[in-house]
Amino acid sequence: MINPQSHSASQSAVPLKQYLQERIQLIEETLPTMLPASWNVPHPLAEAMLYSLMAGGKRLRPIFVLAACESLNGSPATALPVACAVEMIHTYSLIHDDLPAMDNDDLRRGKPTNHKVYGEAMAILAGDGLLTHAFFTAAQAAKVTGVSADAVLTIVEELAEYAGMRGMVGGQVADMGGEQGLTTLEQLAYIHHHKTGDLVIFSLRAGGHLAGANAHQLDALTEFGFKLGLAFQIQDDILDVIGDEALIGKPKGSDEKSAKVTYPYFIGLEASKQEVERLTAEAKQAILQAQFPQPQRLLELADYLMDRNH
Ligand code: FPP
Ligand code: MG
Repeated sequence: MINPQSHSASQSAVPLKQYLQERIQLIEETLPTMLPASWNVPHPLAEAMLYSLMAGGKRLRPIFVLAACESLNGSPATALPVACAVEMIHTYSLIHDDLPAMDNDDLRRGKPTNHKVYGEAMAILAGDGLLTHAFFTAAQAAKVTGVSADAVLTIVEELAEYAGMRGMVGGQVADMGGEQGLTTLEQLAYIHHHKTGDLVIFSLRAGGHLAGANAHQLDALTEFGFKLGLAFQIQDDILDVIGDEALIGKPKGSDEKSAKVTYPYFIGLEASKQEVERLTAEAKQAILQAQFPQPQRLLELADYLMDRNH
């Protein structure tokens, strides 16, 4: 095993907490500017889109885009449009996931869900608007930051692949079919990998593409995202059982209430926690073995996710 402590990269001069605050601020300042002010958008639609987009959240996926780009000596400014694009996709998925036809939730990020404020039809359309605008926003990387059209084409293609039918949407469909007594642990892993992991993988690979990653580094980012994405969703399952409602921004126990299959349901809380630790350690090894110029921030993010309480 390679020792994570042996990398004293300059990147870690700023403590992780400060790095996260600075990056979140950058992302939150940029997100609303990505909706062109000159476009004549019906007022309630723009308001409903911005309501969920600006409702807080950890901004993890955009941070992964920035951090992966920075780990290869790319600049955060270069990565901002794609970072905003993935947050738009994530936010649309949450709006639709909360709808009565899906999880029927009233609270998200500590606030009433989109359909509770704007009604179901507008919430569906706000999600549609964010999904579509993500692709416009990703394309801006070539127009405003000088990233090559080739790299942006690859990113747009991967966004469709990882967020779409073989990625997050497919994972959500598998999740809807999940049922205690019928679904196996292997099927649950499939659900988690696609529903949650694929957007994490996309974010990391996109940051890599933006910084000119080679094939070996892209493979490492993919493995890092694959393992971390599963660890992240298992942690989500754990927090649904033992989390603090004020911190997680929604009622806990919702998985059990809706008879969802989860890692704690299959293997119990303790083994679930161990699984998160094992996957996180393996994810870090993938990065350590691939010779990144600045690996430290990605390694710190992995530890931060394992220890998160919301
Ligand atoms: C919480 O993210 C959300 C997840 C762990 C992913 C759940 C996946 C879906 C709801 C997919 C839905 C897909 C469709 C097509 C409807 P987070 O903890 O990063 O939330 P935050 O952004 O609020 O911090
Ligand atoms: Mg849900």
